[in-house]
Amino acid sequence: MAHKIAVLSQKGGTGKTTAVRTLTDVLRRSGVRTLAIDLDPQGNLSDYFDLPTDVEPTIADVLSGRAAAGEAIYEDLIPSNLSLAEAELALGGRMGRELTLRRALAEIDEEYEVILIDCPPSLGLLTVNALVAADHALITAEAQYFALQGVEQAMEVVELARDSLNPPLSLLGVLLNLADMRTVHSREALASLKERFGERVFESVIRSSIAYAESAERARSILDHRPDLGADYLALAAEMLERLQGLDDAGERLARLAQSAST
Ligand SMILES: Nc1ncnc2c1ncn2[C@@H]1O[C@H](COP(=O)(O)OP(=O)(O)O)[C@@H](O)[C@H]1O
Ligand SMILES: [Mg+2]
Repeated sequence: MAHKIAVLSQKGGTGKTTAVRTLTDVLRRSGVRTLAIDLDPQGNLSDYFDLPTDVEPTIADVLSGRAAAGEAIYEDLIPSNLSLAEAELALGGRMGRELTLRRALAEIDEEYEVILIDCPPSLGLLTVNALVAADHALITAEAQYFALQGVEQAMEVVELARDSLNPPLSLLGVLLNLADMRTVHSREALASLKERFGERVFESVIRSSIAYAESAERARSILDHRPDLGADYLALAAEMLERLQGLDDAGERLARLAQSAST
């Protein structure tokens, strides 16, 4: 069974999509069979992977029951586009609406070791679907004032999913993203998160750099575009693998990857 990880936050701009793209890259390079799912109607993850915008079927077709998940996989990505907004509305009126993604993923679960789900920038029905389908939640926070508040709100939805439809759901971790640790507000954001979430806050912090926007624009992994910055994600992936069970080989391969990147 795959480790299914929902990457979420209460708003946009916290680096969810970038984290999903880059963690997918790191895991694949470590030999982990990884599927990425774009669950945002904006389709940013699909663009970042340089998928043509008109591919079909997409995750919208999967959630609408028009396609099986297996039919919507392109190069280990299930893409999204604006039609997902419509599919979300239609989903709202249906029985078992929160369980739709979970049911759809059941048939492909065995084919992957990790499935990363990129949530939209809100805590609505799509994010709830991701949390009900997932084993783990990874909450991203922009290193700014009010970071804690945003994470608390995301955490409430995680707890809701756990208390109702998905009791085994665990908090994999809280990621401080777009950080500039030379500034007071980044340091304060990290301190407040650690005070509240303790060891669940990843030690690895993702530095802020304009290079990420360039990397997205060019649809090129930050690991290739700026390996020096990519090191942050290598460290994060190593921490993540330690928290996930049964991926020890990948941890070793990742360590070698990190070593070759730094020499
Ligand atoms: N570490 C980072 N430093 C600076 N900019 C970043 C970083 N990570 C992502 N970005 C940029 O910030 C914007 C929002 O990131 P994105 O990953 O799309 O966030 P979300 O999916 O949460 O909305 C994008 O323009 C992206 O390129
Ligand atoms: Mg996004």
